[in-house]
Amino acid sequence: MDAELLLAHALGRPRTALLTLDDVDDDVAARFAALLDQRAQRVPLQHLTGRAPFRHLELAVGPGVFVPRPETEQLVEWALGRLAGVPEPVVVDLGSGSGAIALSIAHEHAGARVTAVERDPQALEWTRHNAVLRAGVGDRPVTVLAGDMTDAGLLTGLDGTVDLVVSNPPYVPDGARVPREVADHDPPLALWGGPDGLDVVRGLLRTAARLLRDGGALGIEHADQQGGALPALVRAHGAFGDVADHPDLAGRPRFTTARRAARD
Ligand SMILES: C[S@@+](CC[C@H](N)C(=O)[O-])C[C@H]1O[C@@H](n2cnc3c(N)ncnc32)[C@H](O)[C@@H]1O
Repeated sequence: MDAELLLAHALGRPRTALLTLDDVDDDVAARFAALLDQRAQRVPLQHLTGRAPFRHLELAVGPGVFVPRPETEQLVEWALGRLAGVPEPVVVDLGSGSGAIALSIAHEHAGARVTAVERDPQALEWTRHNAVLRAGVGDRPVTVLAGDMTDAGLLTGLDGTVDLVVSNPPYVPDGARVPREVADHDPPLALWGGPDGLDVVRGLLRTAARLLRDGGALGIEHADQQGGALPALVRAHGAFGDVADHPDLAGRPRFTTARRAARD
């Protein structure tokens, strides 16, 4: 699959064009060989093509930004389900990276007013770049904000008004073994979440509890091993009810959801 996608990339044509391809010019063959070499060195496919498919979008990606993963598409599916029937929901995506979640929601819910928050300056350039591209093709513009999702001063103007807080935060426990593509090419700030992987999530919960309106929805992606710990953390926080965990398509625990409980 990777070889086919790289050949299509070297040709500048879609993968389906390979079906009717008999031969390639020397310059294409040379480009293809160079790409294969880099892939063999474990450079991620998406960094070589410069694109990552995510739901209905193709996002620009490269060094400095987390490559969006297919598992996260289901978190977006759940989020859109929560927004169905709400004409102009207020949505905040914490830790936006390429903008995969924020921009997909803006694309698939025409009325959504989405804010994307990103702390890493390099990743933020990709968030902004993709947001400009999507607005350029007619999606409702997403507000992109440089900020820390654990900061008590973040977006205070939205306190108690947000319909949905969604996040794929850094959640890999420090020291966990990850593939070379991840260790060498995904930004550290996108991965590591402290000894149990949940350090950033603890701050995120405080922010979500403040931002969400009563009854507002929270969705957080997590690692396979956190299907017990993360729901427990959300329950223990005290501001949330209806806590549930959801598997990905492979059946592994993948994201936790909850509702903001009513304030006294
Ligand atoms: C796992 S990546 C997810 C990116 C994107 N949402 C996705 O699903 O592909 C986590 C992102 O959160 C950002 N991040 C990490 N800590 C943060 C913080 N405290 N505040 C805001 N963003 C943060 C990282 O820089 C990274 O872009």
